[in-house]
Amino acid sequence: MPGATAGRRPATTGTLPGSTRCADSSPQLPSGPSSAKVSPRMRKRFYLTTAIDYVNGEPHLGHAYEKIVADVIARARRSLGEEVFFLTGLDEHGQKVQQAALDSGKKPQAYCDDLAAVWKGFAKKLNLSNDDFVRTSEPRHQTAVQAILSKLNAAGHFYKAQYRGFYSLKEETFLTEKDRRADRTFDANYGQVVELVEDNYYFHLREHQQWPIEHIESHPELDPQGREFIEPFYRRNEVLAFLKNNALEDLCISRPLARLNWGIPLPFDEKFVTYVWFDALVNYISVPAAQGDPAVLAALKSEIRNPKSEIELWPADVHVIGKDILKFHAVYWPITLRAIGLPLPKQILVHGWWQKDGQKMSKSTGNIVDPISIIDEWGVDAFRYYVVRELDIGPDGNWTDAGFQARYSAELANGLGNLVNRSLSMLKRYRNGVVPPSSDELAPEINQAAGHVRDRLRENKLQEALMSIFFSIVDRANQYVDQTAPFKLARDPANAARLDQVLYNLTETCRILAVLLWPFIPATAEKIFAQLGLGGRPDQMSYADWGGLNAGHSIAEPVALFPRKDRPKN
Ligand code: MSP
Repeated sequence: MPGATAGRRPATTGTLPGSTRCADSSPQLPSGPSSAKVSPRMRKRFYLTTAIDYVNGEPHLGHAYEKIVADVIARARRSLGEEVFFLTGLDEHGQKVQQAALDSGKKPQAYCDDLAAVWKGFAKKLNLSNDDFVRTSEPRHQTAVQAILSKLNAAGHFYKAQYRGFYSLKEETFLTEKDRRADRTFDANYGQVVELVEDNYYFHLREHQQWPIEHIESHPELDPQGREFIEPFYRRNEVLAFLKNNALEDLCISRPLARLNWGIPLPFDEKFVTYVWFDALVNYISVPAAQGDPAVLAALKSEIRNPKSEIELWPADVHVIGKDILKFHAVYWPITLRAIGLPLPKQILVHGWWQKDGQKMSKSTGNIVDPISIIDEWGVDAFRYYVVRELDIGPDGNWTDAGFQARYSAELANGLGNLVNRSLSMLKRYRNGVVPPSSDELAPEINQAAGHVRDRLRENKLQEALMSIFFSIVDRANQYVDQTAPFKLARDPANAARLDQVLYNLTETCRILAVLLWPFIPATAEKIFAQLGLGGRPDQMSYADWGGLNAGHSIAEPVALFPRKDRPKN
């Protein structure tokens, strides 16, 4: 892991990337949502966020994966009956964006507006079901950032001091001696490193050393649903090791206007703008503030006026993030929230990084996976399916075109696609598309598998849920076709009752598959529903109980879901 720090004093040991510096002040306990006036008609939504992407980067496989993971969780929760608010968006301020805008001859805002259209298009391409899309250059976000800065400054959390040391222009972060290699140079990842002497504002962090450790260690016991605060466990352990082995350095929360003007001005000193990470993290509560969340509005006093709605969101249920930004979310963000007087998010869910053909993806070496061209060629659901099926939330993954094509062919075209197509085609051919009387031969197995899938989805174990759907239902039903051989039964009218049974079991299995698959591959699930001649969407897990199809119902035309591609692409 990279070891950049944005502070003055070197940390002693540890591997998490981030920004710290040491000093004194007294911690504040969160006042929590109890301080807010909650209207009785409101029910807290399941609030789910992703990292907000740097606007000047190209949307790639890593961004797509994170957003799809979050989207599957959001859809699964809705399907399980929860009200969900799913937020994603863009991180638009900072030196890199300012420089990129300058290079392209545009004003930063115009530059960001153009790119934001591309990123919003990307979210649509991935078929995300996000409820809001935040841009950190929006006034609603800036107002909240400034309200928080004013509050923390008034409460004595910040102090001004002179920084003397190294600074990575590329990473927009301060570097310390420990970031130097044996030959005194800095890693090439830091880009150009300059020596700086400048005043800045710092956030007192030293007194926050202990309670985050206790907070992490007291989970899952403290959580009503028995969740860890940070998942998976090895990321939790990494944060604990960092907190136990390093004195927290104070966080530099400003950048001088003379060096950077594309940022949110500090409300208490116009010669500075806000450090881009402090700005970015606040998106998780600036949107709730704009949505009229009572707990957040109460914590920010009357600074935010006239929200359009009144939705209870905070605390977030899950922050989905990549492993590289864990320290910002597991250390600095909780400390900031506690200082503001807000409860902590319930869970930080950390995914790994994708490589391509065993190597870091990089434009210069040309080994980039472009999600848009994959989706254009193979369809969005093939892409969504592959990334969730291939990579569990946690470890690093490796994209190979051959691996993608092999899963497409074996699992989507020959597995799911073939099952649905032959089941519905046989119903058309042998029963004119009319559903026979109900039969529950497969019911015990399918109901059990569906229960297992629902349980895994409640735990955000997406890969396990998907494997259950395929191993216990798709494969089982294809095996059932082979065992019962309906095409042979159809040859002899004496077998009519048995053929009815088999066709009912297959058609009903397809209906349940549509419901279970909807969070993962919603467009395909909706096609299965449409081919079954069913109205509405398969978007409620409660529809997954056996026996929903009625005798006499007519299905529509079967159409291949995942056309076979004979020649593999290189
Ligand atoms: N802007 C910050 C996040 C601020 S959140 C308050 C940032 N942006 S990013 O564009 O660099 O990354 C956005 C997300 O994409 C991060 O969670 C990051 O881990 C993830 N990924 C970037 N490259 C990735 C891979 N190659 N693989 C998987 N995810 C990766 O960090």
